[in-house]
Amino acid sequence: MLNTPTPELLEQLRQIVGPVGALDQPEDIAPYLVDHRKIFRGATPLVLRPDSTDQISQILTLCHANRIGIVPVGGNTSYCGGATPSSSGNEIVLSLSRLKRIRHVDIDNNTLTVEAGCVLAAVQQAAEAVNRLFPLSLGSEGSCQIGGNLSTNAGGTAVLRYGMARDLVLGLEVVLPDGQILNDLSDLRKNNTGYDLRNLFIGAEGTLGIITAATLKLYPLPHTYITALVAVNDPATAVELLSYLRSSGSDTLTTFELIPRIGMDLVCKHIAGIHDPFEDTHPWYVLLEATSTQCTDQLTEELSTLLVHAQDNHLVRDVLLAQNSTQRDFFWRIRESIPEAQTRAGGSIKHDVSVSISDLPKFIEEGSALCQHIAPEGVLVIYGHLGDGSLHFNINTPDAGAHPDFFAKKASLNHTIHELAHHFRGSISAEHGIGQLKRDELATFKHPVAMQVMQAIKQALDPQGIMNPGKVLSVD
Ligand code: MLT
Ligand code: ZN
Repeated sequence: MLNTPTPELLEQLRQIVGPVGALDQPEDIAPYLVDHRKIFRGATPLVLRPDSTDQISQILTLCHANRIGIVPVGGNTSYCGGATPSSSGNEIVLSLSRLKRIRHVDIDNNTLTVEAGCVLAAVQQAAEAVNRLFPLSLGSEGSCQIGGNLSTNAGGTAVLRYGMARDLVLGLEVVLPDGQILNDLSDLRKNNTGYDLRNLFIGAEGTLGIITAATLKLYPLPHTYITALVAVNDPATAVELLSYLRSSGSDTLTTFELIPRIGMDLVCKHIAGIHDPFEDTHPWYVLLEATSTQCTDQLTEELSTLLVHAQDNHLVRDVLLAQNSTQRDFFWRIRESIPEAQTRAGGSIKHDVSVSISDLPKFIEEGSALCQHIAPEGVLVIYGHLGDGSLHFNINTPDAGAHPDFFAKKASLNHTIHELAHHFRGSISAEHGIGQLKRDELATFKHPVAMQVMQAIKQALDPQGIMNPGKVLSVD
């Protein structure tokens, strides 16, 4: 059982961070009490904003000794309520936003060491400043923080080529629940010395400790971007197109995103400045991008030739190649505006699932039929990272006034889609994590032995259960 912090303890915590690092006025702490999607609301007596690993270590030492729950927060962009405190009012929120130094750039080693509160876009810029690429890229990159990206093992739109956040890390600095600092900021690509500790904390959503810094892998900076919006008949053809491009020797693909007709309609209707760039209407689209470190037209020619062949073989209905960076940005805006357009259209019941790429068409077909059965009034908006086998299988509210019961079907739709993903040996969370939103579904769908191992690790590292209570695993 966790304790309620006493006024004396709150004062000790304030002393650690000093006046600028402690927020306790209602208007100052309000933004920390609600999640990005406004699904979860919590309470806290104190938000701490430490500016060093040492201060975090002192905070956790004190909280551990007194059994006080701690909720770490980065950019507060979680889709799963991963950084929102419970409504008990007993948990302390710890914001990483003042820990934002770029500690070290090593060009020869292709690595960058940054603190957890660095905004993702700032990490990308720091890499670009030395003519390198940090490839993690997602819609919220202007506000999410690298510590949160690592804690949730974020995905995004370049996973196809570079992998998930986990694949981009060489070392971590972590403050453990008892306040000890684990300095595992290795910058080695080869290091076979026992258990892979860094991968325990990546994806743990702050339940095992607080990531305070990371050494990240850098890549050569692309100089050529080929971006195409491709119209296709259906998801099965999109999968065939992906296979065709890969087997034709194209190892330059970085992005392969599926967009449905309704996605195009929604962004055209709700987002200023967006129109359908095709002359004809098409049932599905793929946004694809290939990159090269060479400044050359060769890549454009190769990809255009492949797409012409694909069109001759009826894999593709139409192709638009971005002619300049303005057009490239425009194509990306179509894809990246889908979540906002869904919100403006009244909101949606969301899923973030993955199955093997080869199973995607069947999954979409069966999932669509199940959703239509449960919520025939819902509008299916299925889009996302087809190249990674990961989809946002969302069902938008129809005219909210006409179907007031739609959102009451959320639990049933969630469970049905998760069951289907499980049936396909897929995952109920491809890239957004578990947080509090999917905690109980995780317990249902993850293998019992895997759950036992997770519980054992939690017990070993955080026996008091102070770290991000109730996220990922339930509080006993
Ligand atoms: C995306 O891919 O656009 C996001 O992960 C999902 C979302 O914002 O709904
Ligand atoms: Zn996504």
